[in-house]
Amino acid sequence: MKNIAIFASGAGSNAQKIIDHFRGSDKGRVSLIVCNKAGAGVLQIAEHEGIPSILIEKEPFFHSDKYVLLLKDQQIDLVVLAGFLWKIPANLVQAFPDRIINIHPALLPKFGGKGMYGHFVHEAVIAAGEKESGITIHFVNEKYDDGETILQERCIITPEDTPITVAQKVQALEHQWFPVIVERLLSAL
Ligand code: GRF
Repeated sequence: MKNIAIFASGAGSNAQKIIDHFRGSDKGRVSLIVCNKAGAGVLQIAEHEGIPSILIEKEPFFHSDKYVLLLKDQQIDLVVLAGFLWKIPANLVQAFPDRIINIHPALLPKFGGKGMYGHFVHEAVIAAGEKESGITIHFVNEKYDDGETILQERCIITPEDTPITVAQKVQALEHQWFPVIVERLLSAL
């Protein structure tokens, strides 16, 4: 049984889909939810699901091994970033080589990097006149949205699309594919 830690800052819809996917599984379980925003929806999900959660603080996250030690102590096998808005510090990347993955709501390397999250991404994609968007699931390294790509899935953008409708198409891809990729990675650990 592998242990998954989900890092999230927001609503947690991806976290919920991953939790649902592994419910009753003997392959993996979401054993910890890590959040950096008090009141975030993902914390309500953790409570509802009876999954331990921690609210992390900036200073020790970026300037100590406190959370690295906690994740090791919890025997975390895979760290899954699902809408986590802080950059992952080098000590955490180095402590979990090829064991931290992220999902980005666009086709990297375009429309990635600092500030490119949520509606900002979809607005940029439409403003650029793109004919498609999609998701990128990738390993996390020490730069934003830069690690080796694991999977990309695409959706078509029509002239009628708005940032909202693009977000809906992209979120459907996220919910469909992120749990599948997490399971595939766990079985390779
Ligand atoms: C998703 O768009 C994901 O691609 C991005 O952050 C968002 C998380 O949404 N990394 P949710 O909190 O899982 O609903």
